[in-house]
Amino acid sequence: MSYRILSGFRPTGKIHLGNIFGALQNWKKLQEHNQCFFEIADYHALTTNYDKTENLKDDILNIAADWLAFGLDPKKAVIFVQSDVRNHVELFTLLSMITPLPLLERNPTLKEQLKDLNIRTIHYGHLGYPVLQAADILIYRSTAVPVGEDQLPHIELTREIARRFNNLYGETFPEPKALLTSFPRVPGPDGKRMSKSLNNTILLNEKPGDIQKKVKQAFTDPQKIRKNDKGHPDKCVVFSYHKIFNPENVEQKKTECKEGTIGCVDCKAECSSIMAAYLEPYRKKREALQKNEGFVRDVLREGAQKAREETNKTMEQIRSHMKLWV
Ligand code: TRP
Ligand code: SF4
Repeated sequence: MSYRILSGFRPTGKIHLGNIFGALQNWKKLQEHNQCFFEIADYHALTTNYDKTENLKDDILNIAADWLAFGLDPKKAVIFVQSDVRNHVELFTLLSMITPLPLLERNPTLKEQLKDLNIRTIHYGHLGYPVLQAADILIYRSTAVPVGEDQLPHIELTREIARRFNNLYGETFPEPKALLTSFPRVPGPDGKRMSKSLNNTILLNEKPGDIQKKVKQAFTDPQKIRKNDKGHPDKCVVFSYHKIFNPENVEQKKTECKEGTIGCVDCKAECSSIMAAYLEPYRKKREALQKNEGFVRDVLREGAQKAREETNKTMEQIRSHMKLWV
Protein backbone atom coordinates (compact mmCIF):
# COMPACT_ATOMS: atom_id res chain seq x y z
CA MET A 1 0.00 0.00 0.00
CA SER A 2 1.24 3.45 -0.72
CA TYR A 3 0.83 6.56 1.43
CA ARG A 4 0.66 10.26 0.94
CA ILE A 5 3.37 11.49 3.22
CA LEU A 6 4.43 14.78 4.68
CA SER A 7 7.24 15.30 7.11
CA GLY A 8 9.57 18.11 8.00
CA PHE A 9 12.44 19.54 9.98
CA ARG A 10 12.93 22.92 11.52
CA PRO A 11 16.00 24.61 9.99
CA THR A 12 17.87 24.95 13.27
CA GLY A 13 21.25 23.48 12.35
CA LYS A 14 23.08 21.07 10.14
CA ILE A 15 22.00 17.48 9.70
CA HIS A 16 23.69 14.98 12.04
CA LEU A 17 23.70 11.23 12.60
CA GLY A 18 20.76 11.53 14.98
CA ASN A 19 18.64 13.07 12.18
CA ILE A 20 19.88 10.50 9.68
CA PHE A 21 18.90 7.49 11.73
CA GLY A 22 15.92 9.18 13.39
CA ALA A 23 14.30 10.28 10.13
CA LEU A 24 16.18 10.68 6.85
CA GLN A 25 17.03 7.02 6.37
CA ASN A 26 13.34 6.29 6.63
CA TRP A 27 12.35 9.14 4.30
CA LYS A 28 14.81 7.95 1.69
CA LYS A 29 13.14 4.56 1.64
CA LEU A 30 9.63 5.98 1.70
CA GLN A 31 10.21 8.25 -1.30
CA GLU A 32 10.60 5.16 -3.50
CA HIS A 33 7.00 3.99 -3.29
CA ASN A 34 4.97 6.83 -1.81
CA GLN A 35 3.94 10.36 -2.75
CA CYS A 36 6.22 12.31 -0.41
CA PHE A 37 6.36 15.96 0.60
CA PHE A 38 9.41 17.00 2.62
CA GLU A 39 9.20 20.42 4.17
CA ILE A 40 11.73 22.77 5.74
CA ALA A 41 9.58 24.19 8.51
CA ASP A 42 10.88 27.74 8.79
CA TYR A 43 7.75 29.17 10.43
CA HIS A 44 8.07 26.51 13.11
CA ALA A 45 11.67 27.55 13.71
CA LEU A 46 10.37 31.03 14.54
CA THR A 47 8.34 29.72 17.48
CA THR A 48 11.52 29.59 19.56
CA ASN A 49 14.02 31.50 17.39
CA TYR A 50 12.00 34.58 16.44
CA ASP A 51 14.87 36.75 17.70
CA LYS A 52 17.57 34.88 15.76
CA THR A 53 16.65 35.30 12.13
CA GLU A 54 19.95 36.53 10.72
CA ASN A 55 21.08 33.04 9.71
CA LEU A 56 17.69 31.64 8.78
CA LYS A 57 18.21 31.80 5.00
CA ASP A 58 21.57 30.06 5.24
CA ASP A 59 20.16 27.46 7.61
CA ILE A 60 17.41 26.69 5.09
CA LEU A 61 19.91 26.30 2.23
CA ASN A 62 22.14 24.14 4.40
CA ILE A 63 19.37 21.77 5.41
CA ALA A 64 18.24 21.49 1.80
CA ALA A 65 21.80 20.70 0.65
CA ASP A 66 22.21 18.14 3.44
CA TRP A 67 18.95 16.44 2.46
CA LEU A 68 19.97 16.30 -1.20
CA ALA A 69 23.45 15.05 -0.33
CA PHE A 70 21.94 12.26 1.75
CA GLY A 71 19.76 11.16 -1.15
CA LEU A 72 16.38 12.79 -0.88
CA ASP A 73 15.52 13.04 -4.54
CA PRO A 74 13.56 15.93 -6.06
CA LYS A 75 12.54 13.63 -8.92
CA LYS A 76 10.79 11.37 -6.43
CA ALA A 77 9.66 13.70 -3.65
CA VAL A 78 8.53 17.29 -3.37
CA ILE A 79 11.13 19.20 -1.36
CA PHE A 80 10.14 22.72 -0.32
CA VAL A 81 10.25 25.52 2.21
CA GLN A 82 7.12 25.96 4.32
CA SER A 83 6.96 29.75 3.98
CA ASP A 84 7.08 29.46 0.18
CA VAL A 85 3.60 27.95 0.40
CA ARG A 86 1.39 30.57 2.05
CA ASN A 87 -1.63 28.29 1.98
CA HIS A 88 -0.22 26.67 5.13
CA VAL A 89 -0.86 29.94 6.96
CA GLU A 90 -4.43 30.17 5.77
CA LEU A 91 -5.24 26.66 6.92
CA PHE A 92 -3.45 27.35 10.21
CA THR A 93 -5.81 30.28 10.79
CA LEU A 94 -8.88 28.23 9.96
CA LEU A 95 -7.82 25.31 12.15
CA SER A 96 -7.08 27.73 14.99
CA MET A 97 -10.80 28.55 15.07
CA ILE A 98 -11.76 24.97 15.89
CA THR A 99 -8.95 24.03 18.26
CA PRO A 100 -9.84 24.24 21.96
CA LEU A 101 -7.11 25.84 24.04
CA PRO A 102 -6.90 23.03 26.63
CA LEU A 103 -5.75 20.64 23.88
CA LEU A 104 -2.71 22.85 23.32
CA GLU A 105 -2.01 23.58 26.96
CA ARG A 106 -1.75 19.86 27.69
CA ASN A 107 0.82 19.24 24.93
CA PRO A 108 3.71 17.35 26.59
CA THR A 109 6.21 18.24 23.83
CA LEU A 110 5.59 21.91 24.56
CA LYS A 111 6.00 21.46 28.32
CA GLU A 112 9.31 19.71 27.76
CA GLN A 113 10.51 22.44 25.41
CA LEU A 114 9.60 25.22 27.85
CA LYS A 115 11.62 23.43 30.52
CA ASP A 116 14.62 22.62 28.27
CA LEU A 117 14.89 26.13 26.87
CA ASN A 118 14.04 27.79 30.16
CA ILE A 119 11.18 29.77 28.62
CA ARG A 120 9.08 31.63 31.18
CA THR A 121 6.54 33.42 29.03
CA ILE A 122 4.93 31.36 26.34
CA HIS A 123 4.06 33.11 23.10
CA TYR A 124 0.81 32.78 21.21
CA GLY A 125 2.44 31.28 18.09
CA HIS A 126 4.43 28.80 20.14
CA LEU A 127 1.28 27.51 21.81
CA GLY A 128 -0.15 27.08 18.33
CA TYR A 129 2.84 25.04 17.11
CA PRO A 130 0.85 21.80 16.73
CA VAL A 131 -1.97 23.60 14.90
CA LEU A 132 0.52 24.84 12.31
CA GLN A 133 1.92 21.32 12.12
CA ALA A 134 -1.60 19.95 11.65
CA ALA A 135 -2.08 22.45 8.82
CA ASP A 136 1.20 21.25 7.22
CA ILE A 137 0.05 17.67 7.33
CA LEU A 138 -3.62 18.02 6.46
CA ILE A 139 -3.17 20.46 3.59
CA TYR A 140 -1.53 17.60 1.61
CA ARG A 141 -4.33 15.23 2.66
CA SER A 142 -1.53 13.10 4.07
CA THR A 143 -2.28 9.60 5.23
CA ALA A 144 1.00 9.00 7.06
CA VAL A 145 3.66 11.06 8.82
CA PRO A 146 7.09 9.58 9.55
CA VAL A 147 8.30 11.12 12.82
CA GLY A 148 10.34 10.47 15.92
CA GLU A 149 8.64 9.55 19.18
CA ASP A 150 8.86 13.08 20.53
CA GLN A 151 6.42 14.15 17.80
CA LEU A 152 3.70 11.61 18.59
CA PRO A 153 1.60 14.04 20.66
CA HIS A 154 1.58 16.41 17.67
CA ILE A 155 0.32 13.70 15.34
CA GLU A 156 -2.36 12.76 17.87
CA LEU A 157 -3.44 16.40 17.95
CA THR A 158 -3.48 16.51 14.16
CA ARG A 159 -5.82 13.52 14.10
CA GLU A 160 -8.05 15.14 16.68
CA ILE A 161 -8.22 18.39 14.69
CA ALA A 162 -8.94 16.46 11.47
CA ARG A 163 -11.82 14.64 13.19
CA ARG A 164 -13.25 17.90 14.52
CA PHE A 165 -13.04 19.50 11.09
CA ASN A 166 -14.67 16.53 9.36
CA ASN A 167 -17.49 16.47 11.93
CA LEU A 168 -18.15 20.17 11.61
CA TYR A 169 -17.88 20.66 7.84
CA GLY A 170 -18.07 17.21 6.26
CA GLU A 171 -15.46 14.63 5.32
CA THR A 172 -12.40 16.57 4.12
CA PHE A 173 -9.20 15.13 5.61
CA PRO A 174 -7.96 11.58 6.05
CA GLU A 175 -6.77 10.87 9.60
CA PRO A 176 -3.01 10.51 9.17
CA LYS A 177 -1.10 7.91 11.10
CA ALA A 178 2.38 8.22 12.56
CA LEU A 179 5.12 6.03 11.10
CA LEU A 180 7.84 5.49 13.68
CA THR A 181 11.32 4.65 12.47
CA SER A 182 12.67 1.21 13.23
CA PHE A 183 16.31 2.29 13.10
CA PRO A 184 18.39 2.28 16.28
CA ARG A 185 18.83 5.56 18.11
CA VAL A 186 22.33 7.01 17.70
CA PRO A 187 23.65 8.47 20.95
CA GLY A 188 26.02 11.42 21.02
CA PRO A 189 29.63 10.67 22.02
CA ASP A 190 28.66 11.68 25.58
CA GLY A 191 25.97 9.01 25.69
CA LYS A 192 23.06 11.48 25.72
CA ARG A 193 20.54 11.93 22.94
CA MET A 194 22.38 13.42 19.96
CA SER A 195 21.21 17.00 19.57
CA LYS A 196 22.48 20.35 18.43
CA SER A 197 21.45 22.00 21.67
CA LEU A 198 23.52 19.49 23.66
CA ASN A 199 26.48 20.20 21.40
CA ASN A 200 27.23 16.50 20.92
CA THR A 201 26.54 15.94 17.24
CA ILE A 202 28.46 14.21 14.48
CA LEU A 203 27.45 15.96 11.27
CA LEU A 204 26.60 14.50 7.88
CA ASN A 205 29.64 16.33 6.50
CA GLU A 206 31.92 15.89 9.49
CA LYS A 207 35.57 15.60 8.41
CA PRO A 208 37.31 12.26 9.14
CA GLY A 209 39.76 14.02 11.47
CA ASP A 210 36.92 15.52 13.49
CA ILE A 211 35.06 12.22 13.66
CA GLN A 212 38.25 10.72 15.05
CA LYS A 213 38.53 13.46 17.70
CA LYS A 214 34.91 13.13 18.74
CA VAL A 215 35.00 9.34 18.96
CA LYS A 216 38.27 9.53 20.88
CA GLN A 217 36.49 11.53 23.57
CA ALA A 218 33.44 9.27 23.56
CA PHE A 219 32.07 7.76 26.74
CA THR A 220 33.31 4.18 27.28
CA ASP A 221 33.08 1.62 30.07
CA PRO A 222 34.65 3.52 33.02
CA GLN A 223 35.96 0.24 34.45
CA LYS A 224 38.07 -0.49 31.41
CA ILE A 225 41.16 1.59 32.05
CA ARG A 226 44.09 -0.43 30.76
CA LYS A 227 44.20 -2.10 27.41
CA ASN A 228 43.80 -5.63 28.77
CA ASP A 229 41.09 -4.84 31.35
CA LYS A 230 37.88 -6.75 30.72
CA GLY A 231 35.20 -4.37 29.44
CA HIS A 232 31.39 -4.16 29.37
CA PRO A 233 30.49 -3.21 25.82
CA ASP A 234 26.85 -2.52 26.68
CA LYS A 235 28.01 0.39 28.86
CA CYS A 236 29.98 1.94 26.00
CA VAL A 237 28.88 4.45 23.36
CA VAL A 238 31.60 3.30 20.97
CA PHE A 239 30.14 -0.17 21.07
CA SER A 240 26.75 1.17 20.10
CA TYR A 241 28.43 2.82 17.11
CA HIS A 242 29.98 -0.54 16.18
CA LYS A 243 26.50 -2.06 16.31
CA ILE A 244 25.19 0.49 13.84
CA PHE A 245 28.12 1.06 11.49
CA ASN A 246 30.07 -2.18 11.78
CA PRO A 247 27.42 -4.91 12.02
CA GLU A 248 29.60 -7.58 10.36
CA ASN A 249 32.22 -7.37 13.10
CA VAL A 250 30.10 -6.44 16.07
CA GLU A 251 30.19 -9.89 17.69
CA GLN A 252 33.95 -9.98 17.39
CA LYS A 253 34.28 -6.52 18.96
CA LYS A 254 32.06 -7.63 21.81
CA THR A 255 34.26 -10.64 22.54
CA GLU A 256 37.50 -8.68 22.22
CA CYS A 257 36.24 -6.02 24.61
CA LYS A 258 34.89 -8.53 27.13
CA GLU A 259 38.07 -10.58 27.12
CA GLY A 260 40.35 -7.58 27.21
CA THR A 261 42.11 -8.43 23.96
CA ILE A 262 41.45 -4.99 22.52
CA GLY A 263 42.04 -1.62 24.15
CA CYS A 264 39.73 1.38 23.86
CA VAL A 265 42.26 3.36 21.86
CA ASP A 266 42.37 0.81 19.04
CA CYS A 267 38.68 0.07 19.26
CA LYS A 268 37.86 3.77 18.89
CA ALA A 269 40.28 4.25 16.00
CA GLU A 270 38.66 1.36 14.15
CA CYS A 271 35.20 2.69 14.91
CA SER A 272 35.92 6.22 13.71
CA SER A 273 37.38 5.09 10.41
CA ILE A 274 34.28 2.96 9.76
CA MET A 275 32.02 5.90 10.57
CA ALA A 276 34.09 8.17 8.35
CA ALA A 277 33.80 5.67 5.50
CA TYR A 278 30.03 5.52 5.96
CA LEU A 279 29.73 9.32 5.78
CA GLU A 280 32.34 9.85 3.05
CA PRO A 281 30.05 9.70 -0.01
CA TYR A 282 27.56 12.10 1.60
CA ARG A 283 30.32 14.49 2.59
CA LYS A 284 31.64 14.53 -0.99
CA LYS A 285 28.22 15.16 -2.44
CA ARG A 286 27.59 17.86 0.15
CA GLU A 287 30.82 19.57 -0.80
CA ALA A 288 29.81 19.62 -4.46
CA LEU A 289 26.40 21.08 -3.56
CA GLN A 290 28.07 23.75 -1.45
CA LYS A 291 29.52 25.07 -4.69
CA ASN A 292 26.19 24.87 -6.45
CA GLU A 293 23.71 26.96 -4.50
CA GLY A 294 21.85 27.65 -7.73
CA PHE A 295 20.88 24.00 -8.01
CA VAL A 296 19.66 23.87 -4.42
CA ARG A 297 17.59 26.99 -4.96
CA ASP A 298 16.11 25.54 -8.17
CA VAL A 299 15.05 22.40 -6.32
CA LEU A 300 13.32 24.48 -3.65
CA ARG A 301 11.66 26.72 -6.23
CA GLU A 302 10.28 23.79 -8.19
CA GLY A 303 9.25 22.03 -4.99
CA ALA A 304 7.35 25.13 -3.82
CA GLN A 305 5.59 25.32 -7.17
CA LYS A 306 4.34 21.73 -6.90
CA ALA A 307 3.43 22.18 -3.24
CA ARG A 308 1.41 25.30 -4.10
CA GLU A 309 -0.53 23.51 -6.82
CA GLU A 310 -1.26 20.62 -4.49
CA THR A 311 -2.36 22.85 -1.60
CA ASN A 312 -4.47 25.09 -3.84
CA LYS A 313 -6.61 22.06 -4.56
CA THR A 314 -7.12 21.27 -0.88
CA MET A 315 -7.81 24.90 0.03
CA GLU A 316 -10.55 25.08 -2.58
CA GLN A 317 -12.27 22.07 -1.05
CA ILE A 318 -11.83 23.46 2.43
CA ARG A 319 -13.33 26.82 1.57
CA SER A 320 -16.20 25.17 -0.17
CA HIS A 321 -16.88 22.72 2.70
CA MET A 322 -16.74 25.60 5.18
CA LYS A 323 -18.98 27.71 2.95
CA LEU A 324 -16.51 30.57 3.07
CA TRP A 325 -16.54 33.62 0.88
CA VAL A 326 -15.05 32.87 -2.50
N1 TRP B 1 7.72 19.59 14.60
C1 TRP B 1 8.65 18.91 13.77
C2 TRP B 1 10.00 18.79 14.50
O1 TRP B 1 10.31 19.60 15.33
C3 TRP B 1 8.86 19.58 12.46
C4 TRP B 1 7.60 19.64 11.65
C5 TRP B 1 6.94 20.76 11.24
C6 TRP B 1 6.89 18.53 11.15
N2 TRP B 1 5.84 20.40 10.51
C7 TRP B 1 5.79 19.05 10.45
C8 TRP B 1 7.06 17.13 11.26
C9 TRP B 1 4.85 18.21 9.86
C10 TRP B 1 6.12 16.32 10.66
C11 TRP B 1 5.02 16.83 9.98
O2 TRP B 1 10.74 17.89 14.21
FE1 SF4 C 1 34.07 0.42 24.34
FE2 SF4 C 1 35.71 -0.68 22.61
FE3 SF4 C 1 36.62 0.19 24.98
FE4 SF4 C 1 35.07 -1.95 24.85
S1 SF4 C 1 37.10 -1.74 23.96
S2 SF4 C 1 34.86 -0.26 26.30
S3 SF4 C 1 33.69 -1.43 23.18
S4 SF4 C 1 35.78 1.43 23.33
